[in-house]
Amino acid sequence: MTQDFARAVELLQAGELVAFPTETVYGLGADASNPEAVAKIFAAKGRPADHPLIVHLSGHDAVDRWAEHVPEVAWELMETFWPGPLTLILKKQAWVPDAVTGGQDTVGLRVPGHPVALELLRRFAAANGNRPSGIAAPSANRFGRISPTTAAHVQEELGERVPLILDGGACAVGIESTIVDCSRGEPVVLRPGHIAPEHLAAVLGHCPSIETASGAPRVSGSLAAHYAPQTPMRLVAGERLLDFLCAQRHKGDRCGVIVHSQPPQAGMPHEWLMLPANPTGYAHDLYAALRTMDHADVSLIAVEALPETPEWNAVADRLRRAVAGAGKD
Ligand code: TXA
Ligand code: MG
Repeated sequence: MTQDFARAVELLQAGELVAFPTETVYGLGADASNPEAVAKIFAAKGRPADHPLIVHLSGHDAVDRWAEHVPEVAWELMETFWPGPLTLILKKQAWVPDAVTGGQDTVGLRVPGHPVALELLRRFAAANGNRPSGIAAPSANRFGRISPTTAAHVQEELGERVPLILDGGACAVGIESTIVDCSRGEPVVLRPGHIAPEHLAAVLGHCPSIETASGAPRVSGSLAAHYAPQTPMRLVAGERLLDFLCAQRHKGDRCGVIVHSQPPQAGMPHEWLMLPANPTGYAHDLYAALRTMDHADVSLIAVEALPETPEWNAVADRLRRAVAGAGKD
């Protein structure tokens, strides 16, 4: 774990992997114009090769090198939300490698809002001179597992599989970027995130629709089982939580309990974590909490169900998928 940008750029240029922080989660990066380098990402993650990757850029002046027929509305979204946790799906330039796009005619682009990511991207672009420059990067976790929000998480997930991890501290947002598809006319949200439909409405004039078809490989985060710990998980309604935990205690089971509205109970054998009772704070802590519980000696992770209001949508989406995938191996 280091802050050695020069070495990071050297490795990227040599077709090697570099993990780096963004404001959402840590990414596992490779030179997006080099298909052999990109192939190493899939190998390190154990990820199916037809899943497209996001290309990270140093600024929106680089967009035209990667995308074509960019609609006016996409430029407005970039203007408003970049650098930041928003990925735009656009028609790709013909040269963009299939390894990056999963063979689709679109490419996902984003300018991340993290100083370490931006410094890396700028230095990489400078080293590339006139050639199109971008870093393809999925979240730096093993496929289907919990996304890393610290450099130590990346180390734990990928270890020797990644030659260098840039350390930028804990990620501010904590869940993956909002993905908006601008390649098919009316913009559609493919993955909810910190930038909510209400925020997008400020640019679009109306709330975009959300289309998170589960099972579709176009967006790997849309697979029903994702972001998952190895310990089984259950969502339990707040008012049922104490009864549920008493029953677990009677069975002799120790649970990891993640709450947001009720204080931990003394006298229970369970492991408790209290997360902030607001969506932004909750998102910031969620993945680290799941990771902590996965390492605690518990047989089940019980999570207090979230309020069913729109501002909780993005974290509720990640929790649902974590529950669907938890304890699968
Ligand atoms: O916040 C983030 O987006 C993080 C950081 C590292 O930037 N990255 C991330 O990458 O979450 P990943 O690969 O775990 O998720 C990227 C999502 C995938 O679900 C992928 O299918 C989708 O973006 N995606 C990329 N290109 C696409 C395309 N052309 N069409 C549809 N979906 C695309
Ligand atoms: Mg991911």
